[in-house]
Amino acid sequence: MSARNPSDNDPRIEQPGASDREIQSVHAILLREKNEPAEGYSPMPLLLTFFVCAMFIGVAIYFVNNLGGFSPLAYDERYTLEMGEAAARGGGAKAAVDPIAQGKKLFAICATCHQAAGTGVPGAYPPLAGSEWANGSEERVIRILLHGLTGELKVHGQTYNGNMPAFGPGGGYNWSDDKIAAVLTYVRQEWGNTGGPISAEQVTAIRTKGAAGRTKPWTQPELEAIP
Ligand code: HEC
Repeated sequence: MSARNPSDNDPRIEQPGASDREIQSVHAILLREKNEPAEGYSPMPLLLTFFVCAMFIGVAIYFVNNLGGFSPLAYDERYTLEMGEAAARGGGAKAAVDPIAQGKKLFAICATCHQAAGTGVPGAYPPLAGSEWANGSEERVIRILLHGLTGELKVHGQTYNGNMPAFGPGGGYNWSDDKIAAVLTYVRQEWGNTGGPISAEQVTAIRTKGAAGRTKPWTQPELEAIP
């Protein structure tokens, strides 16, 4: 490093760590030591190959265990493997559905208002346990579920005035007749209730004949006019 400028030795100026020539010679070495570009493919690293294979195997195992035996019925939310096996043996898959077990699952939505023990919330949501409506006329309770209920309603001598949502087609929940029948069957035998089961056929009949064309929620006087 020979000083060519007076400033090269000026202690007030920060001096560079290397001269241009030194930098160039280091770069030349680096360039020389780089790999020559070669033609063809470089194989996938072995470890990555194993990893990808392991992923495929993992997914395959998951599918076999969780895809309900690849049965088209597996997309039915009530489907169980046992039902698939029963169907494969020739038994009807439907026969294996327990409406009370299904209704209990569906009731989780009702429980947000009516509470898990069917007690309701005083002043807001009427009880289903021991309720004359829940246990009473099938014609009325099916209508309540299909289209909802609004306005003043007396349950156990207490007056409520809320909105029970519609669960039938066209309502926010859009439940099938099967589901409505199952949840009512569950409600009508739980917590000491004695209402007796309700079939999907009864729900279908009221939806398509008894109350065909109905879209708005029922009121107590309207329901009382129905036997
Ligand atoms: C968003 C809250 C809410 C949900 C969810 C709800 N209900 Fe209701 N339900 C009510 C209200 C409020 C009333 C009273 C309506 C009125 O005052 O006119 C009622 C009334 C009823 C009645 C008649 C009165 C009685 O106590 O027996 C039945 C039966 C009933 N609901 C069943 C159900 C079932 C079964 C479900 C689930 C499928 C359900 N409800 C989901 C709020 C709800």
